[in-house]
Amino acid sequence: METKNVLMTIFGGTGDLARRKLYPSLFRLYQKGDLNDDFAVIGTARRPWSDETYHQVIKDSIASFEPSDKEAQDFASHFYYQSHNVKDTSHYDVLKELSDQLDEKYHIQGNRIFYLAMSPNFFGTIVSHLKSQGMMNTKGYHRVIIEKPFGNDYQSAFKLNEEINQVFAEDEIYRIDHYLGKEMIQNISAIRFANLIFESIWNNRYIDNIQISLAEEVGVEERAGYYDKSGALKDMVQNHILQMLSLLAMEPPVAFSEKGIRAEKIKALDSIRMYSEDEVRNNFVRGQYTEGEIDDQHFKGYRDEENVDENSLTETFVAGKFLIDNFRWSGVPFYIRTGKHLTEKGTRINIVFKQVPVNVFKNSITGPHKQNQLDSNVLTIYIQPTEGFSLIMNGKEIGQGFQTEPVKLEHRNSADIIENTPEAYEKLLLDVLNGDGTNFTHWDEVAQSWRIVDRIRQTWDKDQQTPPGYPAGTMGPKEAYQLLEKDGRHWIWEP
Ligand code: BG6
Repeated sequence: METKNVLMTIFGGTGDLARRKLYPSLFRLYQKGDLNDDFAVIGTARRPWSDETYHQVIKDSIASFEPSDKEAQDFASHFYYQSHNVKDTSHYDVLKELSDQLDEKYHIQGNRIFYLAMSPNFFGTIVSHLKSQGMMNTKGYHRVIIEKPFGNDYQSAFKLNEEINQVFAEDEIYRIDHYLGKEMIQNISAIRFANLIFESIWNNRYIDNIQISLAEEVGVEERAGYYDKSGALKDMVQNHILQMLSLLAMEPPVAFSEKGIRAEKIKALDSIRMYSEDEVRNNFVRGQYTEGEIDDQHFKGYRDEENVDENSLTETFVAGKFLIDNFRWSGVPFYIRTGKHLTEKGTRINIVFKQVPVNVFKNSITGPHKQNQLDSNVLTIYIQPTEGFSLIMNGKEIGQGFQTEPVKLEHRNSADIIENTPEAYEKLLLDVLNGDGTNFTHWDEVAQSWRIVDRIRQTWDKDQQTPPGYPAGTMGPKEAYQLLEKDGRHWIWEP
């Protein structure tokens, strides 16, 4: 294990992400001793804050953990605020001076992590100044953490990557996809590679289709400005969904290591079929929420949201079918869907197995049924808000005659366990401190995901059609159901 003595500079230190995720996660690491007393954080942003104001912000952001005054004060004392204009070279000189002082004060030995938690437009500028102003002339390690979105399409992502590569090597770059820090996403590999009963049937001979649903109950909230330019495809599919898909589809890695996993994920993404325009139209559908109710609360339609164009064509929902052209997956559709203001918050994966070759029970009917139909075996991985897995099997209904019925075997993590599991950001920050890039996205993965998503986006941009509406509180437009119905299938999860 590497030394945890580190100076972390957060660009975007006054922002929402820093307050809601980074400071609480750093606090948890501090409480657990993963960060010792030899660490310091510099928060930067344009606002002219004092260290006192900054300390109060830090204390507020960790208040829910109910630390003692002393504990909160001790933790906050490691934080320093430096007002900063990312475009002004001289500001990096000031930052360097402060960094060097803190390095000495906290015996940091030159280890530096730079966290870019602000608009991606500035990423290139920041990293080039870090280098030109000598912020990286220290003998320790240098790592950069980059928040999404990594580019806006393949071209912009490529350009951004080139800029970052001028300063940081690939193994020093930690591109965040916070889904990779979630407990149950990490569990996908355990389910697959620690259980022969699944891995041996994890292919197109036994699996009929795989469904990935990322449903959100919230709408666009205060992020409409960003969201209206992005839409669900870029916001959720390019990153989270394609990452989940690659973990589900990849070949077993030689070892459960950064190098092993990355290599297999990249191969899986490379095997996803690149659609023609017509294939995009057939295999992907959009939606945009209209007004509706969730739990008795009324929500307005997307076009009526503040900062959204009243004629916006942006999709707040997307459903689609990916096909993977390799030996393992040929012919198995991976259906995906995600959207804002759906019925409830929930992320889950359904692996739907094929039917037995012959249903020997089909004529063994007593009772009102015409035919004894067998249900599909379904393995469900619950990512959030509940965590666990379930398996639907067929058993015999108790009683006379011979009727089969589905039985559900289920394991859910208890609320206590979930409460005490480290939050995604906490795990990911610890990974960066340990220099472990397993749960981060490699450039090749980002690049291929953009190529796939760009195809879809370009077709939609060309068509310029209004996405079909769906009332807030439903699971998307009817087209999302038709997508599976035309293949003779249906969505397994119907909240
Ligand atoms: C982010 C998206 O990446 O993920 C948001 O930008 C979305 O739009 C969020 O709300 C969902 O994350 P989680 O962890 O709440 O499922």
